[in-house]
Amino acid sequence: MPRLLLTGANGFVGKILTRRLQDVGYQVIALSSSEPRADHGADEHLVCDIRDADALEQAMAQAKPSHVVHLAAVSHVPTSFKEPLRTWQTNVMGSMNLLEAIRLQAPDAFVLFPSSSEVYGAAFKSGLALDELTPCEPLNPYAASKVAAESAFREYFRQGIKGVIARPFNHIGAQQSPDFVSASFARQIALIEAGQQAPVLKVGNLEATRDFLDVQDVCNAYIELLKLADKPGHPNCVNIASGRSLQIRQVLDLMLSLSSATITVELDPERLRPSDIPVALGNSTRLMQCTGWTPSIPLEQTLKELLDYWREQVKHTD
Ligand code: GDD
Repeated sequence: MPRLLLTGANGFVGKILTRRLQDVGYQVIALSSSEPRADHGADEHLVCDIRDADALEQAMAQAKPSHVVHLAAVSHVPTSFKEPLRTWQTNVMGSMNLLEAIRLQAPDAFVLFPSSSEVYGAAFKSGLALDELTPCEPLNPYAASKVAAESAFREYFRQGIKGVIARPFNHIGAQQSPDFVSASFARQIALIEAGQQAPVLKVGNLEATRDFLDVQDVCNAYIELLKLADKPGHPNCVNIASGRSLQIRQVLDLMLSLSSATITVELDPERLRPSDIPVALGNSTRLMQCTGWTPSIPLEQTLKELLDYWREQVKHTD
């Protein structure tokens, strides 16, 4: 049975991906910086901060994986402005520590590195669906740190480590932190419906557009990308996008239409960013061609499930 080391296993995607990987036959060794919840469900657990190179090398020696998925990262753009040092140490030096640990302890492992569509940054101003040949022009510390980490991965690939870089666009679903836009809106609507928040929904920039995917579709793409381990000559960097861009205002309207509550929308200046990508749209042709992946879950379904999830959550927060 293939043994897969998953960093960031306690995060939003990590928890969902663990189950999905087990379903398709991987033994999952979950690595996280804090103790996992009792119901996490991975086959093995390792607690290790990826900024600690020695500890990570030891964890790699213990896990002896055939595959690695490196999800661990500071992934919230506003946090990256507030804490640039932690962002760079985790996203760049953490990735370097991982690559060194692979080189020393699991040199035959195939590694999938989820980077981010944020790397394109200012290039999105063209309004086009960007493909992987577009030069990166990051606009925030998170995006810049992902470009740097990609560069580290490419260098190790050049030296013979096997793997692929993915650039997922915005992915959403139940269990995502309300630090992110759709979860924030869903949580607030649920709180308002339950009478736990005044009927005023706080928002940031509603003019931006994003290319949204259900987290399950992104997990499908990761599972397909891991199969490239057996396909020599595969591309080393692929977008994961829906190819459709929606304004945040439209996402808000769709979510409000799912509620019968009367809700006023109010701009919260604290939610505005020093710089925000105005339009994000991706071209996934390369991914589709090398794996056959296509997205399958309509956004409307994802938003409904997200709102139902938060309705359940707020029942327990009286
Ligand atoms: N978070 C948040 N909260 N964003 C808001 C809000 C709000 O109340 N109101 C409007 N927005 C706008 C943001 O300004 C941004 O334009 C958009 O909604 C999406 O914000 P986020 O959900 O925070 O995601 P992101 O686009 O910054 O980054 C996400 O996607 C990347 C991939 O494209 C993150 O998940 C990154 O980790 C990921 O790499």
